[in-house]
Amino acid sequence: MLDITFVKPALPRGGALVLPVAEDSALGGLGADLDAAAGGAVKRALDAADFKGRKGQSCTIWAPMPDGAAGPSRIVAVGLGKAGELSAEAAEAAGGGALPLVRSEKEATVAADAMPPDLAAAFAMGMALRSYRFGRYRTTEKEDDKPKLERVALATGSVPDAKAAWAPMRAVADGVFLARDLVSEPPNVLNPETMAERCQDLEKLGVQVEILGPKEMKKLGMGAILGVAQGSVNEPRIAVMQWLGASGGNGKKAKPQGKPIAFIGKGVTFDTGGISIKPAGGMEDMKFDMAGGAAVIGLMAALAGRRAKVDAVGLVGMVENMPSGNAQRPGDVVKTMSGKTVEVINTDAEGRLVLADVMSYCQDRFAPAAMVDLATLTGAIIVALGHENAGLFSNDDELAARIVSAGKNTGEACWRMPLGDAYDKQIKSDIADMKNVGGRPGGSISAAQFLQRFVGGGNGKDKDKGAANGHVPWAHLDIAGTAWTTKDLPSVPKGATGFGVRLLDRMVAAHYEG
Ligand code: BES
Ligand code: MN
Ligand code: ZN
Repeated sequence: MLDITFVKPALPRGGALVLPVAEDSALGGLGADLDAAAGGAVKRALDAADFKGRKGQSCTIWAPMPDGAAGPSRIVAVGLGKAGELSAEAAEAAGGGALPLVRSEKEATVAADAMPPDLAAAFAMGMALRSYRFGRYRTTEKEDDKPKLERVALATGSVPDAKAAWAPMRAVADGVFLARDLVSEPPNVLNPETMAERCQDLEKLGVQVEILGPKEMKKLGMGAILGVAQGSVNEPRIAVMQWLGASGGNGKKAKPQGKPIAFIGKGVTFDTGGISIKPAGGMEDMKFDMAGGAAVIGLMAALAGRRAKVDAVGLVGMVENMPSGNAQRPGDVVKTMSGKTVEVINTDAEGRLVLADVMSYCQDRFAPAAMVDLATLTGAIIVALGHENAGLFSNDDELAARIVSAGKNTGEACWRMPLGDAYDKQIKSDIADMKNVGGRPGGSISAAQFLQRFVGGGNGKDKDKGAANGHVPWAHLDIAGTAWTTKDLPSVPKGATGFGVRLLDRMVAAHYEG
């Protein structure tokens, strides 16, 4: 993570200077001082380059200072768009856009003195998020090719306010980085066991972490997740993480005092398809089939990192979907923890099997106030929504609206998709309670219908739990199209996006913190 500091406005003696400029605005503050020190070179260069401060515009001025004068080695002006329309999202995008233009310098100063402190922090967030790089397995890269940027100083008139705005954002950025790291790891390194170890690292932040293995799963009757896992030599794990920021948990053994909000992630560390094996081309992408789980882990780290006043539980079902002599067959019938049986028509529709058992467990144990799952569940959601929106399915209009709104504010867009009985019919089975695929039409919707069969109801054993009856507000996010990007975005370099961490952190902050 970049080292972000906030300082009083002063001309830097070296390094890069980032100059955010609103559209058609005169240079003020530090920008004007710099122009004066450079003998008018800054204004001249920006005019010559026809730089107007529009969104997405940038202009690099090399060696702007006259001989012998101290100052930055380059100035990078970035456009903020119209001054009257300046938002946190625009400031973040400008910060993200600036990052690649200064990363070959060790230090950068941002002349953010014309921006209010919360927007200065948003600009820093853009730079921090864009600076992400997964470099762990590069051993032969030349020094010159490596990014050098370590420190960014934001010059602002109100250092304490900007610092206060940045502190929780930094915790969220750390959570996003953690999610991206997990998704980027190759599948020979990240398997259910090593992923569970990464969950346990969250104990340092005050999260209570328990790991269930196959023995516990058998006891609980989790035939669905176990069926998926049985083809792999890597045993399955379920991580149960509790951040009890409202009940004063903070690492000590505690129980949620009210109903917690629950997050559930699909953590398939590699999806070959199993016996219904996938084609070879692009199969390597299926290392990211644990991105929903990574988002839940990153989210728990973010909530704990910023000491959020919320009771939140995060559960991740971790398995590897492999073909083998011991693998699940198409045609197998498995019994889920809820007691419902599933005919496994296609072993490649494994995510819903994993989630079903984890959702039942979550409701039986925690009776959550609301439950949100994230999963790279279907290729069909990419056909429907491309890479621009995650698919959102929900049985609760209020919860759905909260997620859509958080998506608009964080750039993690979600588009609500329908649910309904007509779709549910697609997963009727001739010999079991349901089958795990509903055919090609509306493939993401029938997958969501499958999940909805495990919402509420529970196993009926514990009538005190919300799961045993009543309405459990639930939302499912199909992130198959948004977990990974093949092109650079303003605050997301190509690769793992960490989608879901910022979205759900924002939703918690807006609606679930006391
Ligand atoms: N993990 C995949 C979904 C996926 C596909 C994610 C492409 C990201 C990119 C999931 O387990 C899967 O294989 N789904 C099948 C379901 C089908 C067998 C009903 C699919 O989408 O083809
Ligand atoms: Mn699959
Ligand atoms: Zn999958």
